[in-house]
Amino acid sequence: MELIISTDEESGSKIAYEILKETLLKNEQAVLGLATGTTPLKLYQLMIDDYQKGNMSYKNIKTYNLDEYVGLDENNPQSYRYFMNKILFEHLDIDLNNTFVPNGIGNQEVSILEYDKLLKNLGPADIQILGIGSNGHIAFNEPGTDFNLTTHVTELSKSTIKDNSRLFNNINEVPTKAITMGIKSIMESKQIILMAFGKNKQEAIYQLLSGKIDNKFPASILNNHQNITVICDKEASSLLTEKKID
Ligand code: GLP
Repeated sequence: MELIISTDEESGSKIAYEILKETLLKNEQAVLGLATGTTPLKLYQLMIDDYQKGNMSYKNIKTYNLDEYVGLDENNPQSYRYFMNKILFEHLDIDLNNTFVPNGIGNQEVSILEYDKLLKNLGPADIQILGIGSNGHIAFNEPGTDFNLTTHVTELSKSTIKDNSRLFNNINEVPTKAITMGIKSIMESKQIILMAFGKNKQEAIYQLLSGKIDNKFPASILNNHQNITVICDKEASSLLTEKKID
């Protein structure tokens, strides 16, 4: 696990973009694993800016997202599909038919099977972008989730509902369930960039970098990944004192 501590979110996102760009330039048909949340917003803006300058094309890129709230359809501004369309996809030359987000509505068993089938067909992400929840969740794999699970429906923990309520009018509007890629599939990604910015993430980054693997802290399994870069700003890394990273 490589750790990069950036001055701030801006510079951390630039570092993430440089890594991503290098991967995409090597393979114009790359499969890109994407995340929602506020953490990747600056990275997505950098992707758009560079595309608009004519430096990049997403014509042959395929993307899949980690998760979706159960009960929200693509027209709901709180859904992750809507978020991805508005924040990123509509600003690139990507074919929307090549972008995939789990289906939050309809028969859940069917949606789960369909997403696992899709992931199998697309193959592992050439590069997966990740954020981290303050309780250590990645995608919506909450504390206690089996590391061997693939796509599944999960109950969101109280702390995740509370954290994510900042993006809703009030806490009662936050869905209580989500459909999420499992850790097994995330771990199959060829390369991972995990970003964490701000004070709210300092405990999570401290635990992640402690190297102890335990499903009570789902992100800890990433210590077993062969090609992961963790990028965090000074605030998120402030509990790491003299930690040895290899
Ligand atoms: C959400 C998403 C995760 C995301 C995390 C952190 O619950 N399911 O994929 O990484 O929370 O969100 P944020 O980046 O807004 O801090």
